[in-house]
Amino acid sequence: MGEFPKPLAQAVDAVTSQSGTRRLDGSRIVSDQQWWRRAVIYQIYPRSFADTNDDGIGDLHGIISRLDHLVWLGVDALWLSPIYPSPMADFGYDIADHTAIDPRFGTLADFDDLLRQAHARGLKVVLDYVPAHTSDRHPWFAASRSSRDDPRRDWYVWRTPSAGGGPPNNWESQFGGGPAWTLDAATGQYYLHTFLPEQPDLNWRNPAVREAMREVLRFWMRRGVDGFRVDVAHRILKDPRMRDNPPHPAVRAGAPGAHRLVERYSRNWHEVHEVHRLLRSTVEEFDDPPRLLAGEVNLDPGELVAYYGTDDELHLPLNFHAIVEMPWTSRRLAALVTDVEQALPDGTWPSWILSNHDKSRFPSRVGRHLARQALVFLLTARGTPVLYYGDEIALGDTDIPHDRIQDAWGRHVPGRSRDPQRTPMPWDTSANAGFCPAGVEPWLPLGADADRRNIAVQRADPRSELALARTLIGLRAVRPSLRNGSYARVTVTDDLFAFARTAGDERTLVVLTFDRPATFPLPGPHRVLCSTGMDRQGIVDGEITLESGQALVLAPDTRA
Ligand code: GLC
Ligand code: CA
Repeated sequence: MGEFPKPLAQAVDAVTSQSGTRRLDGSRIVSDQQWWRRAVIYQIYPRSFADTNDDGIGDLHGIISRLDHLVWLGVDALWLSPIYPSPMADFGYDIADHTAIDPRFGTLADFDDLLRQAHARGLKVVLDYVPAHTSDRHPWFAASRSSRDDPRRDWYVWRTPSAGGGPPNNWESQFGGGPAWTLDAATGQYYLHTFLPEQPDLNWRNPAVREAMREVLRFWMRRGVDGFRVDVAHRILKDPRMRDNPPHPAVRAGAPGAHRLVERYSRNWHEVHEVHRLLRSTVEEFDDPPRLLAGEVNLDPGELVAYYGTDDELHLPLNFHAIVEMPWTSRRLAALVTDVEQALPDGTWPSWILSNHDKSRFPSRVGRHLARQALVFLLTARGTPVLYYGDEIALGDTDIPHDRIQDAWGRHVPGRSRDPQRTPMPWDTSANAGFCPAGVEPWLPLGADADRRNIAVQRADPRSELALARTLIGLRAVRPSLRNGSYARVTVTDDLFAFARTAGDERTLVVLTFDRPATFPLPGPHRVLCSTGMDRQGIVDGEITLESGQALVLAPDTRA
């Protein structure tokens, strides 16, 4: 493995190859009640992972065919973005049937196969669960809109027009495009849709809705899924009085729709916690093996903590908002970690995310020169890291020509398309980078660098980002301090952020630089466990110099 230090390479190999067999008997998983705390989660956007039936769209067989990559990488759990039947107005986040598989992705039998094959390799499978809305083609909504007297009318949020005949209040759709209300001419009322008109909001005040949606969780848990990622967990319930949102005090002139308002009444409404307690108790009906309830909580750390409840709501609210919206500087990153550490009560466990299907990929956001360093942060921070497919090769965004934009948000609001971060996974140097065969047009174009930045090329290069990601994941597995140790800030300057992770006698020191080189005085001899360039090893001591965008993961040298 070239310069990759031998003993470490062996340790990483041992852990990653062992992990499959270690978990095969299942005993360790079952006894590990909080498996997500030691896990690395890997998000798959199924449309873009691997296509096996030549329609240019990824599918379940494609995921199965790539499971060995994930085992080799060393991740513990997969989270799949929605795979349910959908008109795809929001690419699966508009669900028309919660307990089936969209034929574009496969069948329920394929899903069972995926689950079996993942479990046989020691991988957990977590599904996306979308409680806040359905597709407008869902039979529930078809019934609901059919008449004011239909028994399902109250399954969605209907209101009569305002005095002037317009929408009932000033709430705006999250995707631009106008009000969060659409008039149903036939029945003369507006229905609420926080996102697209094709995504009517469910009425979670209705006990029948609650029960039906709990049954959805049970359906998948009976099949064996290991948990759920709850979509827009902070938007499931709103103000029952539907008051107008106040104007945003600091809004830029011409800011689109929802961003002109403070969302006081339409999100993070206090009663939403009731729903999370209900979901948690439903998930706890199945405890063998224990299931994970994670959730998208797109709020500041101070607001997000409420979603842990008193260990009776989400196990793992996913913290990504702050990190993706902020400049990647030493002081901002250190301050964010402090905010998270201070906001989280004892006994709760953080999560960290750098990219997902809604936000620009991190190498494009932080800059290519800081991409490796950001990976080091993600995989050494205290908390469960969530990798987005392609993060392991530091995949960046792909520019999509205007006439190929697929995302509805991008069609409503220029510049907001999420297609750039959803392009097909580049696997190798063959046609279409191995995502789909030659002659098939992938649903979104591949990145221009797919022939160079792909899994096969990086697997052959011991200094690649992939080698770095795998080494870091392996280090988490062999070092309790990285996996579940405490966090302490060591040094923060404009150019350098150093922190320590400690568990018992074991300590790991992580040193990161940003836009400029910096020096760091080491408190004694340290062994290099990993460096961003995969090129430093051995013992370092005294004042060390790091280039810009470098990171070192170090262990005190106890042999001295
Ligand atoms: C979440 C999803 C996003 C989707 C939205 C509406 O934010 O991550 O992709 O568009 O919810 O369901
Ligand atoms: Ca396909």
